[in-house]
Amino acid sequence: MNQMQITQPDDWHVHLRDGDMLNHVAPYTAKQFARAIVMPNLQPPVTTVKQAVEYVDRIVNAVGDSQFEPLMTLYLTDDTSAEEIILAEKSCFVKAVKLYPAGATTNSSAGVTDIRKCDDALAAMQEAGLPLLVHGEVTDPDIDVFDREKAFIDQVLMPLMNRFPRLKIVFEHITTADAVDFVLNTGLTIGATITPQHLLLNRNAMFKGGMRPHNYCLPVLKREQHRQALLHAATSGNRKFFLGTDSAPHSKDKKENSCGCAGIFSAHAAIEMYATAFEEQNALDKLEAFASFNGPDFYGLSRNTETITLERTPWQIPDSYPLAGGDTLIPMMSGETINWKLIK
Ligand code: NCD
Ligand code: ZN
Repeated sequence: MNQMQITQPDDWHVHLRDGDMLNHVAPYTAKQFARAIVMPNLQPPVTTVKQAVEYVDRIVNAVGDSQFEPLMTLYLTDDTSAEEIILAEKSCFVKAVKLYPAGATTNSSAGVTDIRKCDDALAAMQEAGLPLLVHGEVTDPDIDVFDREKAFIDQVLMPLMNRFPRLKIVFEHITTADAVDFVLNTGLTIGATITPQHLLLNRNAMFKGGMRPHNYCLPVLKREQHRQALLHAATSGNRKFFLGTDSAPHSKDKKENSCGCAGIFSAHAAIEMYATAFEEQNALDKLEAFASFNGPDFYGLSRNTETITLERTPWQIPDSYPLAGGDTLIPMMSGETINWKLIK
């Protein structure tokens, strides 16, 4: 197969940032995807519908005359009220609420300290049918960083599901066989996104010939056996799994640092990287459902009607992209050759 046409995909988890960074990165997402679920972990975080409206304006401005539709999220805090959830549902453009356990990742310090403090908001979400998107890692420093997703399933997710059995939950950027099994063994209220880096890389990629900060993200890359489980899940055709890049740009300076930021920028070639992973499994025929159908079906939104075309044309990913003020952005697969190209 040298050309492939699929329904235009959506990105169900992306960081578009703000200010200059937003203006630089949003066009990459808008070129590939019809819609994207935009993460709210700005500084300050997007905790209210009013802030989300203002952020939408800045995103629309950043993508120029593109038809791209940003789908917004609110950042859940210990103080999020049921009233704010009702406002969000009525707004029609806020599509979900994001749970960051406080301290789990970039800009999560305002996140949730104890999920039980959010019961009013969660009850309102369950009633409104507004999904909860979870960063599924515990923050306990005594728990090994590679085990934090599994611990989150046992300590937070299972009790949460039992307390709110009708709450829709997306287990974001899953990284382990444990998460795959959990999603497979729960009801249709639970979906999961999978990133290109967790499909293409295992944890060796962080240490190949030296420290590789540009392959550091959270949840951190895992062992090969987990990557294999994710590949199987993504390409299985199971409708609970869908595309979410977690493209998370940080400038080169912030990555190559004595305390480097977590996050991998993948928006420049996201669908091409997913195609590469699906081809590794001989499952290109399953790409369209994962990238373009399962996400809108889970969220109860219509599927896109436009199509995109991918061609087998090797091209070299740039070493870096320029940012304002002389900064640069190092993309995933920087300088490497990729076999698929989005041509329209
Ligand atoms: C994200 C970021 O930089 O905002 N980083 C990451 O490694 N994925 C935050 C997140 O999604 O955890
Ligand atoms: Zn993220």
